[in-house]
Amino acid sequence: MIDRETIERIMDTAKVEEVVGDFVSLRKRGVNMIGLCPFHNEKTPSFTVSPSKNLWKCFGCGKGGKPVHFIMEHEQLSYYEALRWLAKRYHIEFKERELTDEEKREESIRESMFVINQYALQYFTETLHNSEEGKAIGLNYFRHRGLRDETIKKFCLGYSLERRDSFAKTAIAAGYNPEIIAKTGVCYSTEDGRLQDRFWGRVIFPVHTISGKVVAFGGRVLQTNAKAAKYVNSPESEIYHKSDHLYGLYFAKQAIMQKDRCILVEGYLDVISMYQAGIQNVVASSGTSLTTGQIRLIHRFTSNVTLLYDGDKAGIKASIRGIDMLLEEGMNINVVLLPEGEDPDSYAQSHSTEEVEDFIERNKVDFIKFKTNLLLDEVGEDPIKRAGLIGDVVKSIAVVPNDILRSEYIKKCSDMLNVGEQLLVKETAKIRKARAEEAQKRTDSSNRHSEDSTSAGSDGPAPVDEFQQNIINSYSNNPLHHKEKAIIQFMLKNGSKLLQVPESKLDNTPAFTETVISHLYYSFEADGIEFSHPLYKKIFQEAAEHAADLEFNPENHFIAHPDPEISALTAELCSERYLLSKFFSEQKSDERNELAVLFEQTTRLAIAYKQSIVDEMLKSTMARLKDPAVAADPTALQEAMEDFKFLKETQQALNNVLRGYGFGNVALNV
Ligand code: CTP
Ligand code: MN
Repeated sequence: MIDRETIERIMDTAKVEEVVGDFVSLRKRGVNMIGLCPFHNEKTPSFTVSPSKNLWKCFGCGKGGKPVHFIMEHEQLSYYEALRWLAKRYHIEFKERELTDEEKREESIRESMFVINQYALQYFTETLHNSEEGKAIGLNYFRHRGLRDETIKKFCLGYSLERRDSFAKTAIAAGYNPEIIAKTGVCYSTEDGRLQDRFWGRVIFPVHTISGKVVAFGGRVLQTNAKAAKYVNSPESEIYHKSDHLYGLYFAKQAIMQKDRCILVEGYLDVISMYQAGIQNVVASSGTSLTTGQIRLIHRFTSNVTLLYDGDKAGIKASIRGIDMLLEEGMNINVVLLPEGEDPDSYAQSHSTEEVEDFIERNKVDFIKFKTNLLLDEVGEDPIKRAGLIGDVVKSIAVVPNDILRSEYIKKCSDMLNVGEQLLVKETAKIRKARAEEAQKRTDSSNRHSEDSTSAGSDGPAPVDEFQQNIINSYSNNPLHHKEKAIIQFMLKNGSKLLQVPESKLDNTPAFTETVISHLYYSFEADGIEFSHPLYKKIFQEAAEHAADLEFNPENHFIAHPDPEISALTAELCSERYLLSKFFSEQKSDERNELAVLFEQTTRLAIAYKQSIVDEMLKSTMARLKDPAVAADPTALQEAMEDFKFLKETQQALNNVLRGYGFGNVALNV
């Protein structure tokens, strides 16, 4: 763990123009600097660096933040790794918090595992290139598969000798702990306690993390007719969770960003041969079916995926399996099937770059067309089967999170299957509603507002699941999250400034001053309101602990936060804030004193948020009133009516507060 002081020192020292300038050529434009965004393809610069605010922001792809976030994005490092990177760049001593003994032990085991993997990698590549057996068998094999030496080196391919313990012996002799060697999975212990090589007699494909560390290996037998499994892979370990890695991503990430597309294939050699053929934005799920974790990895670089599979039954099945999951994560999907008998490896080996690219371009079909055609073939004219087919396609459409995309798919599907669009819209809505309700049940207990804010309307936004509730969805459609975000943004900028609450004739309190944070905190506490978005809630609660501290600088505090999610979100909100000038520029022309202005802004924000809560509650109460089950139950109906009345009164009361202060009756529209 890094201590906060170190984080703050790094944040203060790292200059955005220098850090970004290491990678992007910048030129001056007024007080800012501009350049071509390294994260998406552009010809005119929309990437802006603000030295005075120490922020960067791309108006094209929306990415932005502090220097540390640039390094995270550009080098694909974790928050801690990026901080360490910057510490090194600026010669700052990297002080870490004392770990507990248990943490130290675990940390050192994990580190040793990486060290052993690195050692094994070196051993396997040296064996391939320098030993007689390696050259004669391993290297020969790769060359026969059409790989050039530079490709073999690039992917760090290796060879493990045809002896059951040659790596085990070498590693132990080199002083590595046998227990930890076994933990990495490169070796395993036999029942009588001997250490054996897992990959003996196989060629080796190392699996890299996104930042280039080796976490696992795949080993292929040389003769396909052998009884042994064709591939043996490292087992899961403390450092290797299969479902969070994609083979080839380390080598492909740059090309994926540039092309804004990721090509997904099945196997190690598919990736390598495609890469060698000049198509570098390729990754493989390595034989297993795609996982959500893997899709999110891809999503960090692009939203566009091309599935490139064999044209046989197995290939088609494999692509179908991945589709719904990809759709659910908001990916745009194309499917390309290769001619019978070909896989990406063989096709890339026998065609030029242009030919492969051309084939993909000409044969790609979007998922609706792909799935529909496929199923149509199976179904024929049988009307019952046809209905089943429509249901199947609609199920896929229903998981697409983006409204516009969904309605485009519906249109397409309606054309292809000759079914009325309205019918499809209704079907999709039904599925989405059922799914939403199910998900809502799961999150109800953890979310105080959720019960009241469940949209019972027809095709409302899908409820936010746990995973999505992080920085990525700070833009979510949830109206409460929107308001909460605005409040956090406002708090980051103005939190410890003072505002003046005017005297109240109603309860005879004189005017007084307090901090913005403190005003917000008591205003929400009085109504029993807690933020619904978990990250915003965390930030707000932590800010409240500093409610009376005038020295507290919320922006610096949260930017240098040890929790990477909080730091990233803060940076994002701060960089975005400068774009949200509509609201914030209003205040400049205001002649009143700052304390009064801040009071008005804080109050408007707080009331706008409360109004949203009431609106959401009203929506669900209306739905209750319309529910036939409630209508049939007099007690329930009575309750719903009372709730409705109370909420209407509350709505009025909130407007009265605004009017009472002379702010008009329209709260801030953020
Ligand atoms: N795979 C695996 N274990 C197996 C079989 C396959 O892990 N027993 C994974 C490997 O990542 C492999 C991918 O699934 O690359 C695709 O398998 P397959 O099509 O059988 O192999 P190919 O990639 O065609 O392998 P090769 O070209 O070397 O024959
Ligand atoms: Mn193959």
